[in-house]
Amino acid sequence: MAFVTLKELMDKAEAGKYAVGAFNCNNMEIIQAIIQAAEAEKSPVIVQASQGAIKYAGLSYIVAMTRLAAEEASVPVCLHLDHGTSFDQVMQCIRQGFSSVMIDGSKLELEENIKLTNRVLDVARAVGVSVEAELGKIGGTEDDITVSEWEASMTDPEEAKTFVEQTGVDALAVAIGTAHGQYKGTPKLDFERLAKIRELVPVPIVLHGSSGVPDDAIRKAVELGVRKINIDTNIREAFVKGVNEVLAKNPNEIDPRKILGPAKEKMTEIIREKIRLFGSGGKA
Ligand code: G3H
Ligand code: 13P
Ligand code: ZN
Repeated sequence: MAFVTLKELMDKAEAGKYAVGAFNCNNMEIIQAIIQAAEAEKSPVIVQASQGAIKYAGLSYIVAMTRLAAEEASVPVCLHLDHGTSFDQVMQCIRQGFSSVMIDGSKLELEENIKLTNRVLDVARAVGVSVEAELGKIGGTEDDITVSEWEASMTDPEEAKTFVEQTGVDALAVAIGTAHGQYKGTPKLDFERLAKIRELVPVPIVLHGSSGVPDDAIRKAVELGVRKINIDTNIREAFVKGVNEVLAKNPNEIDPRKILGPAKEKMTEIIREKIRLFGSGGKA
């Protein structure tokens, strides 16, 4: 199957009141794990590439590997740019065949974020590519910020309304208490804020930094309108666990396939669990 757009997946997720997992890929094993998990659960899936992934694997490798996987897959696959940093990069991704892009203008002032997002939308709309934008700042778990800075980084519901009215993005990433990476404690999500955003904003909401968020909180977020859930760190953890287990048992192992094979299985397992949690299993 050719890549499907994020819009198509989000429309179905909205109608069915579930979320679709967006899993970060960095190499062939991760792409295979994502697709195998989605096929096993009969779920639509989003494969996404971050700045780090593009730097590591190269844009054309990511597109070629994911395209092959999607063509052979029995489930719909969307290829999405995660945290796109510039207009130029988004254009490169569209040209290479991505079916969806995120333009992350969250560090900009509202007006500038709107302007940049609209510039991307003009082109993306013309070629049938979906667009996710971000409002509020989703930082990393390692960021050393004060409580008031943390509060200030959250998405303002009124601003979200203005942003969506003036752009018309297909999905909006919001800051409601999650962060990228491994949490030190248990993250606390601001559900009131999420409910308010949802009340004012009629587009699918995206939850970033979702690895390590308790299952109950994920279920509640989906109930409140989250339709795309980003997972990277949990995949990394599963990968390293798989590698470490093999090497602990056999420190002299030199066959990469015997090391990466079990790592791939571990990643597939966690991705299947997440798909079931998000409610997209059986929706392909
Ligand atoms: O958005 C954050 C993702 O975890 C990607 O991180 O740029 O290190 O691949 P990365
Ligand atoms: P985690 O690594 O915390 O799961 O976050 C992933 C993410 O939001 C990618 O955009
Ligand atoms: Zn993110």
